[in-house]
Amino acid sequence: MTAKAHTLLLFGATGDLSQRMLLPSLCALHTDELISENLRIVGTARSEMSDSEFRNFARDALEKHMPPERRGHMADFLNRLSYQHLDVTTPEGYKELAEKTGPGDDLAIFLSTAPSLFKPTIQGLQAAGLAGEGARISLEKPLGTDFASSCEINDAVAEAFPEDRIFRIDHYLGKETVQNLLALRFANLMFEPLWRSQYIDHVQITVAETVGLESRVAYYDDSGALRDMVQNHMLQLLALVAMEPPSSFTADAVRDEKVKVLRALRPISVEESVTGQYRGGASGGEIVPGYDEELGKHSDTETFVALKAHVDNWRWRGVPFYLRTGKRLHRRVTEILVQFKQVPHSIFTDARLKPNALLIGIQPEENISFTLMAKVPGLEQEGMSLRSVPLDIAMPDAFTGKHKRIAYERLLLDLIHGDQTLFVRRDEVEAQWRWIDAIRKTWADDGLTPKTYTAGSWGPSAAIALTERDGVSWHE
Ligand code: BG6
Repeated sequence: MTAKAHTLLLFGATGDLSQRMLLPSLCALHTDELISENLRIVGTARSEMSDSEFRNFARDALEKHMPPERRGHMADFLNRLSYQHLDVTTPEGYKELAEKTGPGDDLAIFLSTAPSLFKPTIQGLQAAGLAGEGARISLEKPLGTDFASSCEINDAVAEAFPEDRIFRIDHYLGKETVQNLLALRFANLMFEPLWRSQYIDHVQITVAETVGLESRVAYYDDSGALRDMVQNHMLQLLALVAMEPPSSFTADAVRDEKVKVLRALRPISVEESVTGQYRGGASGGEIVPGYDEELGKHSDTETFVALKAHVDNWRWRGVPFYLRTGKRLHRRVTEILVQFKQVPHSIFTDARLKPNALLIGIQPEENISFTLMAKVPGLEQEGMSLRSVPLDIAMPDAFTGKHKRIAYERLLLDLIHGDQTLFVRRDEVEAQWRWIDAIRKTWADDGLTPKTYTAGSWGPSAAIALTERDGVSWHE
């Protein structure tokens, strides 16, 4: 599928994601002339609104969520928008929607609604002739709550759309440094020969947030950190770190390699996992209540999880992948640390050598830093004085003049252009769920309940013990 879409149909157009991410991303693509002048954007949601009311609604969202310097072409952008109200659960209304979008040729559909609405929406689209060969569909998470429910959703979508026209979003894949990981690994010679158990001691992946429940009480309490963050974003990061070099940068070649990693994940034992739930404290510079207080009741949902994972194949034999994520942690940071091993023999008997490490900062800072040992300048006569120094590629300096893009800009552009490389294939989602379901079963069988941690800390002390007993410290 390579034809460009001429119409983008946005379900959930008045929702939070649309206001914060989708409309600003589309406006940015418009401003940078990355989408064709002919692309029309049709929004749909339950509320009744005229085209001009929807444009006013979109203008408010853009003013709230886009920096002023990026809003120069907003008026022109708003002219692309139109709106059709629709209750997706009833067959009525799809005909009017089809009149608004025109025939289903070259149509990109984006479902940013609750997954329980996917099935009736897809049936409605199909009946209205909007699921034909020229139509592709993009789905937002959560794609199920376990393997079985994800299959139900995927089956419902597959009734109308073949896999090469389904674009499952994991917004982490739209992040600049996440894609840069592919460039770093596969556009340079120096890392690949070292990228294996012989030279790598362990890998750490941290996705720490300072936010708490925000306004997503019901969703989050049913989900928890494992399903909200590990099942999708963190496993995608792990797969990109651990995958074999694909033969080309094409959707199937890349995804074939990722899925092999996901299928090679070893089931986690209860000793290899730690769960936590925050209590009141200070996070992100403010005094915040505990999870149970925010929720207004007791809950066993984890807001923190740390895991020691293994990829069971030749390349990664014996290399732990330590993963941790949580809400209300000490600071907001997403990073990957690849910790290399010590040199096999040191000739610098007086110096303590620090093994090389590659730190890939995804947010808030987008940078890549490789630490090396180097000589401290000077004329010492008793041996050489050495120090560990970073080789930095600070992205904002490396590409001055470029502003930070929202991950959805990349993904919406690829959806419009029909490129699936940065979208998740069904077999990947299924492999992810299988591994996660097994962890949840282990927790349930063992009666594991989350340990408490103070908001503003790095999670429960057991998470520190998880790595320290292997002689490893979390990078902080
Ligand atoms: C979402 C999760 O998928 O990712 C949220 O549902 C989380 O709980 C968010 O806050 C984090 O995304 P980002 O891009 O801010 O790291």
